[in-house]
Amino acid sequence: MSILRSMLFVPGDSEKKLAKGAGIGADALILDLEDAVAAARRPLAREMICEYLSSADRARSELWVRMNPLDSADALRDVAAVVRARPDGIALPKCNGPEDVVQLSHWLDVLEVEHAIPAGSIEICAIATETAVAPFALGRYKGAPRLRILTWGAEDLAAALGASTNKDAAGDYTAPYVLARSLCLFGAYAAGVQGLDTVQPDFRNPAKLREECNEARRDGFLGKIAIHPDQVAVINECFTPSAEEIAHAQVVIDAFKANPDAGTLSLDGKMIDMPHLKQAERLMSIVTRRT
Ligand code: COA
Ligand code: MG
Repeated sequence: MSILRSMLFVPGDSEKKLAKGAGIGADALILDLEDAVAAARRPLAREMICEYLSSADRARSELWVRMNPLDSADALRDVAAVVRARPDGIALPKCNGPEDVVQLSHWLDVLEVEHAIPAGSIEICAIATETAVAPFALGRYKGAPRLRILTWGAEDLAAALGASTNKDAAGDYTAPYVLARSLCLFGAYAAGVQGLDTVQPDFRNPAKLREECNEARRDGFLGKIAIHPDQVAVINECFTPSAEEIAHAQVVIDAFKANPDAGTLSLDGKMIDMPHLKQAERLMSIVTRRT
């Protein structure tokens, strides 16, 4: 399964943005039915999204749909309306835990049968830190059906907590949101799914975006959400292993291959041991999964 470096949110009721989204180079688009679309326009947005899904070139970007939260009246209407047009996946906002993923998966089981879509083919991305209870569930996603991506959100979590802001004076996340981010990362690896970093809402600040991308990649996230076309190229670049990184990883792997009985070796005056080999192998698997 390939890795999604960039997932670009596109409001589902904007003809202009839907048209523009196709050519931006995002690994995936998330056609939004939730926060970016006013409630009164959701029926129209569902129609527009179905039409888009039916006509767009899937080879360019995977096409996902963000539904409304499970406890809202719109949730089942969203899923029932869009499945017939075969989205690659559904993004589930305000997900409280793996039980919510199971419920959505049951809906998809039925709708896939109804529309003669291969069973289990529509995947799920859980936005898994947007309610007060959600962070407590992050260690329990292993085995959740259809789950491919675990991501986090800081804006809705701040709203859920009545916080006045989620950033400090320097523009960095305050402690509760740093914790949510870390738990999301642990949860993704514990579940064996891709960890995706959250949005950088200040879309006119490419320097801050790059900083967040580099920190996310350093920590183990494999991609980041975009909300504006200008963010996509930066995200793709930051989450693509460089030629030097690939070459170095290959040297580490070759060194251990040439010395099968060694647990630790010296490379360019530095010690390398099993964690370095594991890291190198992980990087090479990212490269393979991208091609
Ligand atoms: N997807 C596709 N196209 C987009 C886009 C997006 N997310 N955001 C902007 N564009 C288009 C604009 O329509 C504009 O097109 P044009 O050159 O043909 O006129 C171009 O990109 C430049 O946009 P710009 O004028 O810089 O931004 P804006 O003021 O039109 O829009 C936002 C700013 C934040 C409203 C817009 O980026 C947006 O809607 N983002 C997604 C929001 C969202 O989905 N949020 C929910 C998840 S947090
Ligand atoms: Mg939101």
